[in-house]
Amino acid sequence: MSSFWSLWIIVLTIVTLVGVTWLLFANRKTRLNAENEAKTGHVYDGIEEYDNPLPAWWFNLFVLTLIFTVGYLVFYPGMGNFKGLLKWTSIQQWQEEVDAAEEKFKPLYQSLAAKPIPELAKDKEAMKIGQRLFANSCATCHGSDAGGAIGYPNLRDHDWLYGGEPDNIVTSIKGGRNAVMPAWANTLGGKGLEDMASYVLALSKGEASSEHPAAETFQTMCSVCHGADGSGNIALGAPNLTDDIWLYGGKPEQILQSLAIGRNGKMPAQQDILSPEKIHILSAYVYSLSNE
Ligand code: HEC
Ligand code: HEC
Repeated sequence: MSSFWSLWIIVLTIVTLVGVTWLLFANRKTRLNAENEAKTGHVYDGIEEYDNPLPAWWFNLFVLTLIFTVGYLVFYPGMGNFKGLLKWTSIQQWQEEVDAAEEKFKPLYQSLAAKPIPELAKDKEAMKIGQRLFANSCATCHGSDAGGAIGYPNLRDHDWLYGGEPDNIVTSIKGGRNAVMPAWANTLGGKGLEDMASYVLALSKGEASSEHPAAETFQTMCSVCHGADGSGNIALGAPNLTDDIWLYGGKPEQILQSLAIGRNGKMPAQQDILSPEKIHILSAYVYSLSNE
């Protein structure tokens, strides 16, 4: 905050506080009006308003609030750039709470991380922890049920881009994944793209034949990554094209789009974000989803 705005806040706050204090005391009456006759002159539907003092509880509460306010502004941040005598910050409090939680759960995480993934995946309590970690770090992209969305793989099925063995899953999460599917619009041209999309569709229905106009082009251009039979390659994350599971949709226009512009799915690496123990538990959780 610039010192102008800091000063602006400080002056406004002090003027307001002094103002309300003055208002409270300047208009104060301590005794009931002797004859109970002084009226404010306000009349509502024939009911007249007496000019009596404020109730003591109300007045005292107001004074207490003012005292609290001054105390708060001395000890905590509130007056512009003044940090308060306690030097409290929300970030620091958050960090302390996180550190305390990490310290508390460390032994638990370490004991869970010592178990092999297939065994851990059967541990119901551990998987509840896994589910919570997943909700925090992964659900934004993969969905809270891990069912995925267009461009974000479903983690509940048996179809894996990069393999579903424990090691594959740990590698996916730890280091992230960057898929490289080149764009084919320039190479294949309009007609070539349509033919190829039709071939991909035929592959997924198990109807692809070597007679197909795009069959040969598939062998020269696509088989390096997707395999000669189109069944994919987990080393590259090239999807199996012979099933009816699609990362970017299986409608003809979606396939055409995948071919025309290419696809570059990115799974962010978690190794600098999450501890190895948490990655281990998450891997077991992902493993458990398709091995229930
Ligand atoms: C360099 C390796 C590579 C080559 C060559 C390649 N692909 Fe791909 N392809 C991939 C990868 C990796 C993906 C996954 C992209 C992602 O996850 O974002 C993919 C995705 C696709 C998809 C989307 C699948 C889905 O589930 O939505 C289709 C369709 C496809 N490729 C067809 C082809 C065709 C047809 C060719 C040949 C013209 C081809 N690919 C050539 C690597 C390749
Ligand atoms: C920013 C979005 C995003 C977040 C956050 C994210 N992922 Fe992913 N994840 C992806 C994408 C996109 C892919 C597919 C990459 C590709 O197309 O090749 C993927 C791929 C994967 C795979 C490989 C799937 C396969 O079929 O082989 C696993 C396992 C995985 N993610 C687990 C996780 C876990 C666990 C977390 C939480 C720690 C997580 N992801 C967080 C976007 C994300």
